[in-house]
Amino acid sequence: MPLKQKPSGKLISFEGSEGSGKSTQIARLAAHLQKAGREVLSTREPGGTEIGEQIRNIIVHNSKGDEMCAETELLLFTAARAQLVREVIAPALTRGVIVLSDRYLDSSTVYQGIGRNLAADPVNQINRFAVGNVMPDLTIVIDVPEKVSLARLKQRASDLPDRMERENIDFYTKVREGYLVLAKGMPERFVVVDGTKTEEVIAKRIWEEVQDRVK
Ligand code: TYD
Repeated sequence: MPLKQKPSGKLISFEGSEGSGKSTQIARLAAHLQKAGREVLSTREPGGTEIGEQIRNIIVHNSKGDEMCAETELLLFTAARAQLVREVIAPALTRGVIVLSDRYLDSSTVYQGIGRNLAADPVNQINRFAVGNVMPDLTIVIDVPEKVSLARLKQRASDLPDRMERENIDFYTKVREGYLVLAKGMPERFVVVDGTKTEEVIAKRIWEEVQDRVK
């Protein structure tokens, strides 16, 4: 079902590899926007709906996960997103809410397309089909060197290592470079932020980018 609303809210997606500090910065930006009087909704991918959480479970904690092929992975991530857009994001945008999305369609382009070598054209088509016309107004890439991502990941308290997180350094190099190439190709939508700076400096930089766009 194509979506046909002209949203009055804004969709801001956050991208970057694991351990880039997306969730910390999303929380900070949400607090800042709320202080400025805006209604904010934070969403998380994959998941964020009942159906999406079930799909997330299949992808992330499937004990035989290594056997899942890249095509299946792409279709599952985009299926979860299709549900999230129609059930949560589009209605919120129509109400004028600012939606902060922890990952969005660029994650599929980069992780499944570039990371797992799926052809760009079908990935883009499937991505577009899944989100309808709900594209981000702004995408913030928090860029960290792949070694930093891996080191931060290892410090994370986690009961089960996610299958995505067992990937090796080459995969993270591809992911990082993939985001940088995407951002370069679409400078009107993307902003790349240096994720090695302090939390405060990164938050300030993000706020500079966001404040004019949400007026
Ligand atoms: P998650 O546990 O949400 O962690 P993070 O804080 O790193 O986002 O991780 C979800 C994993 O799924 C992460 O390794 C990135 C990956 N992913 C994809 O490969 N494709 C996608 O489309 C999405 C949304 C996530």
